[in-house]
Amino acid sequence: MPTLVIVGAQWGDEAKGKLVDVLGGQADVVVRFSGGNNAGHTVIVGTEEFRFHLIPAGILHPNVTAILGSGMVVCPKGLLEELDRTRAARPIIGTLKISAAAHVVFPYHRMLDRLEEEARGENKIGTTSRGIGPAYEDKVARFGIRIGEFVDQHRFARRLGEVLKTKNELLARLGGERLEYDAVLSEYSAYADRIRPYVCDTEVMLQDAVAEGKRVLFEGAQGALLDLDSGTYPFVTSSHPVAGGACLGTGVGPRAIDQVLGVAKAYTTRVGTGPFPTELADATGDRIREVGKEYGTTTGRGRRCGWLDLVVLRQSCRLNSLSGLVLTRLDVLSGLDELKVATAYRFRGETIRHIPANTWELDELEPVYETLPGWSEDLTGARSLDDLPKNAWDYMRFIEEFTGTPIAILSIGPARDQTIVIREDLIWG
Ligand code: GDP
Ligand code: IMO
Ligand code: MG
Repeated sequence: MPTLVIVGAQWGDEAKGKLVDVLGGQADVVVRFSGGNNAGHTVIVGTEEFRFHLIPAGILHPNVTAILGSGMVVCPKGLLEELDRTRAARPIIGTLKISAAAHVVFPYHRMLDRLEEEARGENKIGTTSRGIGPAYEDKVARFGIRIGEFVDQHRFARRLGEVLKTKNELLARLGGERLEYDAVLSEYSAYADRIRPYVCDTEVMLQDAVAEGKRVLFEGAQGALLDLDSGTYPFVTSSHPVAGGACLGTGVGPRAIDQVLGVAKAYTTRVGTGPFPTELADATGDRIREVGKEYGTTTGRGRRCGWLDLVVLRQSCRLNSLSGLVLTRLDVLSGLDELKVATAYRFRGETIRHIPANTWELDELEPVYETLPGWSEDLTGARSLDDLPKNAWDYMRFIEEFTGTPIAILSIGPARDQTIVIREDLIWG
């Protein structure tokens, strides 16, 4: 049963897109299971750069069926732009399918995202403003419009009328502008016409693929610490990026999952607000941001940077039941004399080895660091572990021992060939 889930093990942007592209060539199906176009997954192929927000990063492989799963929220406009952009660069790509059960993101979701953020004042989350939270709010309230309804012309016209009435009242209350039914209907009906051919019951398609022993790769978005339940609530996204979300957001059961790889940077970053115990608001943090070009793929915002938090990573290994880690961006740490890793926190006079459930308590945490020696060598040309300096080996070994999880793959640059597979057996089993 060769199925593989790839998830972000930190706060997103761990280089999941690169990994999905690298492993996607070996897969029959690649499916996104959570989030929407808040995600930004970068794939570098030679001199070309692709930024996927909704389409699974595996689509560049022509033999792959790329599925937008039922757990996603889909902006039709964004999806079509992305599809056109990708096809312009690559006339031959994989086959696209969209779950009829995924939810549609409409302009009122984006407007409400902005208005809700403004209303939060100092407590704002720093969302991507893509309307993701409000779209999931509608889904949970059983008020959302699903892709299957959206592409049914008559049903969509009726549902949009019902929903827009309520949304316009809400927008007016929050000081936003009203949306005109006719304008939204005509613009979105045109999108629906283009999207209709891709829509089907992808749950059945995936269940069949699993039953037939096809290689299915589940492409996570965001990261475990942004999970609605397990992350640093309320500074989280509105869906389930953890490995369990792969089942919820695609319609396959937990025993159909074979392997789970967690992608983690060799340090930590976070975009948006919310607690980040190992954040470096100093020259070292700035250096990591500049050397690592740590600017958001979706919003262009500078990412907050800090030391590797092993308490977070160990928690993530457990939450996702990781078979192995994919350590990325080790190259960015070259040239630092010393590297720190957090192995515990000081909290109200005690040493704790877990992340408190009460998010506000994270503001009081003082990380307890171990200091490891750095290395000066450039790692970007390494093609096997033997090419790495001893201190890089030791850094990796420390991570494996602390988390109790082997590093299956190492990434030392954005290109496909800057990837060292260490444990082939942990990829497809
Ligand atoms: P994702 O959201 O997890 O797919 O990650 P993003 O695409 O948002 O951000 C990862 C960034 O790191 C992209 O610009 C990648 O091209 C780049 N990248 C991927 N792997 C490596 C690596 O090992 N080293 C370096 N320096 N950059 C990498
Ligand atoms: P990928 O898949 C990093 C963050 C936002 C914000 C919070 C809520 O590229 O790793 P939302 O718009 O989802 O309501 O924002 O979640 N966030 C991400 N951070 N990478 C992502 O995706 C993210 N998707 C959402 O910055 O803090
Ligand atoms: Mg990203």
